[in-house]
Amino acid sequence: MLYTSTPSHCNFTDYWDRFYLATPHLKPSMFATHTAQHWLTQPTDLLEIGCGNGRDAVWFASQGHSVLGVDLSQNAIEACRKHQSKAEFQTADFSNLSLGRQFSAVYSRFNLHSIDDETEAQALSSVYEHLKLGGKFMVEARTIHDTMMGQGERISEREWIHESHYRRFLDPDQFLDNARAAGFIPEYTLVSAGLAPWGDADPVVMRVVMRRD
Ligand SMILES: C[S@@+](CC[C@H](N)C(=O)[O-])C[C@H]1O[C@@H](n2cnc3c(N)ncnc32)[C@H](O)[C@@H]1O
Repeated sequence: MLYTSTPSHCNFTDYWDRFYLATPHLKPSMFATHTAQHWLTQPTDLLEIGCGNGRDAVWFASQGHSVLGVDLSQNAIEACRKHQSKAEFQTADFSNLSLGRQFSAVYSRFNLHSIDDETEAQALSSVYEHLKLGGKFMVEARTIHDTMMGQGERISEREWIHESHYRRFLDPDQFLDNARAAGFIPEYTLVSAGLAPWGDADPVVMRVVMRRD
């Protein structure tokens, strides 16, 4: 059973199960195309954590990468498996992975702001264990510079529930410290709007690429 010791505001598996029942397949994110262009220049064995409905995993596979996508939501994984794709999918908790193999790259988009501090620490350790030496971990997440921070019910300074949805806005400097403490070497950081516009919203997000040493 997952999340047995997790506070109720972080128990969002039901939220994502409902979301993926209602959400059709989407085109790849801007972060996926950036990642492929700049960081996956050779065919790569890639793990996507929190793959959602598979929009990016399916696209990475179409670009010649060998892809495993994992997500905690069973509805998400069932939707992913319906795509015509070479990508493989598995239901798994990315903060406690035991996949029995290591990957050359791990990709995470819009997941790390959906978990609490303790789960982030577990996720960094879990990803580290599943990366080959020299492998890259690519992350995009919401930040404290997002105007959405402060909307809804306050859990803590950086944690808010808006329309039934928990978010923990990341402080980029703090996150980089956490990543270094977990053994990663940050190689690229960008904090900006214009990277993940969605409808009327254009949040200031953080992109980090780091290496396992
Ligand atoms: C905002 S969605 C992002 C989905 C996808 N990466 C995208 O960019 O469209 C966050 C995803 O993280 C998944 N997730 C959150 N915590 C997780 C965990 N501990 N293990 C696996 N998946 C998790 C949720 O089920 C959800 O699919």
